[in-house]
Amino acid sequence: MIFHVLTLFPEMIEQACRTSILGRALEAGSICLRTTNIRDFADNPNGRIDDYCYGGGAGLLMQPGPVCRAVEAACGEYEERPRVIYVTPQAEVFTQAKAEEFAACKNLVFLCGHYEGIDERALSRVVTDYVSIGDYVLTGGELPALVMIDAISRLVPGVLHNDASAEIESFHDNLLEYPQYTRPEVFEGERVPPILLSGHHANIERWRREESLRRTRERRPDLLKTAALTSMDRIFLDELSRREELKASGSGDEDIWKTEEEK
Ligand code: ADE
Repeated sequence: MIFHVLTLFPEMIEQACRTSILGRALEAGSICLRTTNIRDFADNPNGRIDDYCYGGGAGLLMQPGPVCRAVEAACGEYEERPRVIYVTPQAEVFTQAKAEEFAACKNLVFLCGHYEGIDERALSRVVTDYVSIGDYVLTGGELPALVMIDAISRLVPGVLHNDASAEIESFHDNLLEYPQYTRPEVFEGERVPPILLSGHHANIERWRREESLRRTRERRPDLLKTAALTSMDRIFLDELSRREELKASGSGDEDIWKTEEEK
């Protein structure tokens, strides 16, 4: 997978990508990074690529000429024309499903705007995908592009050495990940849940699934609508709701839901 980023700040992209897991993946050749400085495509000797907005209003806009020329030069490097992703808050929000879709591409071009954005005529000519990383406004597109590159890279074979972890982590089946524990077994008086020390794999799997369901229900109930739930999962969720209702009505005997150890 080749990530090609068009930006006014290539060093920001280069530095972040050359660190940690992405840095190792670049060195190993599992992913490849190219950057283009849009300023190199300015149509004046001083490298200016922004100007005032027609119709008034505060702020400067990136001009269409340099942006289109930079995109065409980048796309020309590839046999098949790559998707050109413009990162903007005025778009559909990036999700794990979108990361999976992009991870199947051979090459991706990211276009990062600055100032008030980019002239609409350039966008309508070259952009194939408009993507936001959330409903807030950042000063430029570099951080959103990095967020997406990170999320996509970890799905590229060879980037994470343990391929299973890319699958199981948060959002697998559209559920949040279960809680995890490492040594010590007792931390400030709090024990690791005993089932995790039992060595009983089927019970551990069931416990993890239930904790994923519990956590998703508590923190992101919206995800449950589209989660891949089994009939066992539904029974567990119904049971949680029933317990809550009993508790709220004051008629529940709290202890009946506790394990022997918790009592
Ligand atoms: N550029 C500025 N804010 C952004 C956001 N939230 N997502 C994507 N690109 C952006």
